[in-house]
Order: sequence, then structure tokens, then C-alpha cells
Amino acid sequence: MSDIELDRSNHGGSRVRVWDMPVRVFHWALVLSFGAAYLLGDSERWRQIHVMFGYTVLGLITFRILWGFIGTHYARFTSFAYGPQAALRYVGSLFSRSPEHHIGHNPAGSWAVYAILTLGIATGVTGYLTLNEIGGDAFEEAHEVLANAWLVVVFVHVAGVIASSFAHRENLAKAMVTGYKRRSSASGSDSVSSDSPGRPIVGAMIATAVIVFWVASLLTGGAAINNGTAQTTMAEDADHDDD
Ligand code: HEM
Ligand code: HEM
Repeated sequence: MSDIELDRSNHGGSRVRVWDMPVRVFHWALVLSFGAAYLLGDSERWRQIHVMFGYTVLGLITFRILWGFIGTHYARFTSFAYGPQAALRYVGSLFSRSPEHHIGHNPAGSWAVYAILTLGIATGVTGYLTLNEIGGDAFEEAHEVLANAWLVVVFVHVAGVIASSFAHRENLAKAMVTGYKRRSSASGSDSVSSDSPGRPIVGAMIATAVIVFWVASLLTGGAAINNGTAQTTMAEDADHDDD
């Protein structure tokens, strides 16, 4: 299966498949897991579910880093390795008549992606250290600060997606669902390797792994995610909720 699938049926121009299935499954599973982990972070009652989503985040990002080396063209880090100047130039161009167009990640967006992956790992690891009472209060404090920093970057990311969508008159969030973006004549700078596979099977495997992990965690009352220090079941936890 080719990385580039032109589809002239629905558009005046042509469309190109940019986000492979693994990237799309990763993205929306990360949105859900980050959102749930963040919202449940404060609550003692929901701690095990919080940890479950936190581990899911760590698993997803680990996969994404691997996929950044072996995935399809636009998923690979080499396709969006931009310096700070390129990012600033791109942001500046959004205010011009002809904003720079990139089929894959734009230079500013790529910085947001790297920040999101780094903060996700750091938040997950400090959460693990906090749960296991390693390193005292410092990691607990760091976990909270990192989670909030991550939230700020996510807001910037979503604002960037909205701004770029308007600038290019293309719904980029939809592209993260369908995988397709419009091919623009202005995007000639993006070159694509000849034949990188789409691998929907890998996307299906990620989705299955996440669901199996969640079901196992829920059925065992969080035992699958406990480190041995949390002795209570979720049902017992509900009795002494202190959120
Ligand atoms: C509902 C809100 C969101 C929307 C509409 C959205 C949309 C998008 C879009 C359109 C892209 C592709 C950007 C591009 O065209 O270059 C993208 C990439 C990305 N987004 Fe989001 N996003 C949302 C929330 C989030 C959240 C909450 C996170 C993390 C916690 C996140 C993490 C990422 C990452 C890591 C990528 C890079 C994808 C990859 O290459 O694997 N997004 N997002
Ligand atoms: C990666 C996604 C994660 C996010 C976004 C996140 C976010 C948060 C937030 C916002 C809090 C509340 C901080 C406060 O107000 O005190 C919190 C607390 C906590 N998180 Fe996470 N967390 C994540 C992952 C994890 C993981 C993987 C673990 C454990 C393995 C974990 C363990 C904890 C613990 C034990 C607390 C309570 C700390 C305390 O006693 O104040 N978190 N988390």
C-alpha cells in the first residue's frame, strides 16, 4: 500500500494520505487518556483509574517514539525536524497573504509535538515515582507542575491547529480522523519516500492493546496497575472518598 493515495473523487484538487492509522489511533487514544488522567488526578477515589490512564499515556508515547523511526513517511521524526527559526518563520507566515503550507507537521506544530511527547513521559514517570513514594515530595510537586505545563502546551497545540486550519482553509482536526489532507501546489517542498506502507494492522493492534489493558485493569480493580503499596480495591476506595 502506498503512503500517497491520491483521491480526486471528492475534491477539485487531490488529496494525500498523511496520517497513517497508527498515528491516528495514537492521537485520539492520547487525547482521551491525557484528558481522563488530568481530570481524575485530584481525586483519591479515582486514583487507580488515574494511574491506568497515566500508564496508557506512557505506553502510547513509547509506541509513538518507536513509530517515529520506523513508521510511514509523515510519522517519522526526520520528516518534521525543524529548527526554531523555521518555527518562527512559519508563525509569521500565518499572518501573510500566502502562509507556508506543509503536508505533514508544520515547523511550529512539530515543536508542540516534541513538547507534548516529552512532557507526557516526564509526567508519567514522576507520577510513577510519586505513587511508589520514591523521592519524597519533590516528585509529587514535579508531577503536578509537569501535568499543568503539559495542559498549557496542549492548549497552545489546539490553538495552533485552529489557527492553521483557518490560514489554510482546511479542517486539520478532520484530517487527523480521516488521515487525508489536501495536496497544495505550494507544498512542493515536502518530498515523500516512494513506498512506505500504511499498516492499518498496527493501528488495530494499538487499539486492541489499549482496550485489553483497560478491561484487565478494571476487572482486577486496578490490581494490574498497582505497585503493591495500594492495597484497597476500587469498591473499598469508594467508601472513603476524599476528593
Ligand atoms: C480536541 C483537541 C485536539 C485536536 C482537534 C487535535 C488535532 C490535532 C491535529 C490536527 C494534529 C496534526 C497537526 C498537523 O496537522 O500538523 C495533531 C497532532 C498531534 N496532537 Fe493533537 N489535537 C487535539 C488534542 C491533543 C491532545 C490533548 C494531545 C496530547 C495530550 C495532542 C497531541 C498531539 C500529538 C502528539 C500530535 C502529533 C501526532 C503525531 O505525529 O503522532 N493533541 N493534533
Ligand atoms: C501521564 C499522564 C498523567 C497526568 C496528566 C497526571 C496528572 C495528575 C494531576 C493533575 C494530579 C493532581 C495533582 C494535585 O493537584 O495534587 C495527579 C496526581 C497524582 N498522580 Fe498523576 N498524572 C499522570 C500520570 C500518572 C501516573 C502514570 C501515575 C502513577 C503511576 C500517577 C500518579 C499520581 C499520584 C499518586 C497522584 C497524587 C499525588 C498527590 O498525592 O498529590 N499519575 N496526576
